Amino acid sequence: MKQAMVDAPVGDDVFNDDPTVHRLEAMVAERLGKDAAVFVTSGTQSNLVGLLAHCGRGDEYIAGDMAHCYRWEAGGAAVLGSIQPQPIPMLEDGLPDPSKIASAVKPDDPHFARSRVFCVENTKDGKVLSVERMREATSVARDHGLRTHLDGARMWNAAVSLGIDGAELTQDFDTVSLCLSKGLGTPMGSVLSGPTDLIAEARKWRKMLGGGLRQVGMVAAAGIYAMEHNIERLADDHATAAAFASAFAEIDGVTITAHNTNMLFLSVRGDPNELMGGMEAAGVKMLWSDAGHGRAQSRVVTHLDVSGADVAPVAGALRALVS
Ligand SMILES: Cc1ncc(COP(=O)(O)O)c(C=O)c1O
Repeated sequence: MKQAMVDAPVGDDVFNDDPTVHRLEAMVAERLGKDAAVFVTSGTQSNLVGLLAHCGRGDEYIAGDMAHCYRWEAGGAAVLGSIQPQPIPMLEDGLPDPSKIASAVKPDDPHFARSRVFCVENTKDGKVLSVERMREATSVARDHGLRTHLDGARMWNAAVSLGIDGAELTQDFDTVSLCLSKGLGTPMGSVLSGPTDLIAEARKWRKMLGGGLRQVGMVAAAGIYAMEHNIERLADDHATAAAFASAFAEIDGVTITAHNTNMLFLSVRGDPNELMGGMEAAGVKMLWSDAGHGRAQSRVVTHLDVSGADVAPVAGALRALVS
């Protein structure tokens, strides 16, 4: 990947003149069956320029109450776009509750914000939503005149897990945000894809947000490399996460609270700070937080820098601490 970055032909992407960025954008649009795409700095920026393209001032987006684009993006759409978020409950599998969409959509009346777009996240905490399952919600949204946005930060984990291609997974969405970092392993970057007019609008917002970058083909080249080499191998990350889950489950006092694709969540008797310090002393950086009732919780995410060979030493360190 680093060699591909060094070798990349570059231009000035602020002038839409970087051939490597063009290649990456065309590649993502083609693989997701969309008309156009725009390379942005992060998943947060991708969701934000997507929402800004869909919604004007005083409009609203509907999303699950645990959605990244509602909860973990610093309220950017509201702060920077005057776009009102309308959260609805997220079901156990990560789908925003389809039965709550109709009542969340506002009537055409001067009292209300205009409901414009409905957002889904896949995977959500590693949980995979099938095309059919997502359609249970997107079809309701469409019936109410909403457009659809997929926060597909980890959409390839979902596609690989379902054994389908990206275009099939994302077919019911107008816009899709895909992260090239995280599981795909690039140092930075996301791509928003969708209809030509919305992507042109998103490109303008990207510039306004300070996301217009110059010879950024060097980074886009990492994205091309990731698209070519790091998608199918996500199945290895899922297998490694399963191996971690089995190894942790054998430790007395450890509870696996969830395990899907490349993520698992665990809770352990003990103090979060002691666990953090103890694991770090054993060479494992691991974030722990308070789960109440004398327990600590953590999230383990596998990616291309973690392999099956890491399972035994990490589980061994945790076993030694917990016992
Ligand atoms: C589902 C989801 N969407 C968006 C983002 C934001 O991505 P970034 O960290 O690149 O801004 C994340 C980050 O973890 C995420 O998990």
